[in-house]
Amino acid sequence: MRLILIGPPGVGKGTQSALLVERLGLKALSSGEIFRREIDAQTDLGRLAQRYIDHGELVPNGVTIEMMAKRLRDEETRKSGFVLDGFPRTVRQAEALDEILFQMDLGLDRVVSIEVEDETIIHRLAGRMGCTKCGEIYHSRNKPPMREGLCDRCNGPLFVRSDDQPGTIMERLRVFHENTAPVVDYYGRTGTLLRVDGSLGPEETYRQIISPIAS
Ligand code: AP5
Ligand code: MG
Repeated sequence: MRLILIGPPGVGKGTQSALLVERLGLKALSSGEIFRREIDAQTDLGRLAQRYIDHGELVPNGVTIEMMAKRLRDEETRKSGFVLDGFPRTVRQAEALDEILFQMDLGLDRVVSIEVEDETIIHRLAGRMGCTKCGEIYHSRNKPPMREGLCDRCNGPLFVRSDDQPGTIMERLRVFHENTAPVVDYYGRTGTLLRVDGSLGPEETYRQIISPIAS
C-alpha cells in the first residue's frame, strides 16, 4: 500500500504514520524526520535545512525532492509500500512525486488530508514531546508518558522540538495555508483524496483512514 498523509503542523501525521507502520508494516518516509536526522548528524544538508526549519519556513524544493526521491527508489520501500508524511508540501513537489512514481511504474492508493482547526493545533504542539531514541510521540495532556521525561517504550529521554515555539508554530501554519493547502486541491482533482476529521482521538482518526482502504 502507498499512502500520503497531508495536513497542517501538529494535526497528527506522525502519530498516524506510526500506527500505519506498526499495524500494516509500511515504511514511514517523513521528510521532517529525515531533515532532523541530518541536522543531528551535522551534515551539509542538515545545516541547510536547519536555517529554514528553525524559522518555520519550507526547505527549498530542489534539495527536498532529491532527498525524498532517493528514499522512494529504495528497493525495500518498493516491496513494503510506504506512508509519506510531510511530503509533498508544495504543488511543485507533488508534480515531482508523480514523475518519480511514473518512472517506477507505481501508483498511489490514497492521499489522506487530515483536517483540524488551527486552535487545536496550537494546543497540540504546545504540549508535544518526542523520544530522542525511538521517536515515539507524546503530549503532556493527551498522551503523557508514565514517567516524566522518559519514553514508555524504550526509556529514552524525551525532548521538545526547536520549531515548537509559539512564533514558529504560527509561521508554520501560515506556510501550510499558503503552500500546502493547494496540494490538497491538486489531489482532489485526481480522485485519490480522502478527507478525515483529525479532531477526534488517534484511534478514531486511524479508523477513518483505514476503513475506506480496507473495504
Ligand atoms: P514536519 O516534521 O513534517 O512537521 P509538521 O508538518 O509541522 O508536522 P508535525 O510533525 O509538527 O506534526 P504532526 O502532524 O506530525 O503531528 P504529531 O503526530 O506529532 O516538518 C518540520 C519542518 O521541516 C517544516 O516546517 C519544514 O521546515 C521542513 N520540511 C519538512 N518537510 C518538508 C517538505 N516536504 N518541503 C519543505 N520543507 C519541509 O502530533 C502533534 C501532537 O498532537 C502530539 O503531541 C500528539 O501526541 C498529539 N496528537 C496527535 N494526534 C492526536 C489526536 N488525534 N488527538 C489528540 N492529540 C493528538
Ligand atoms: Mg510529524
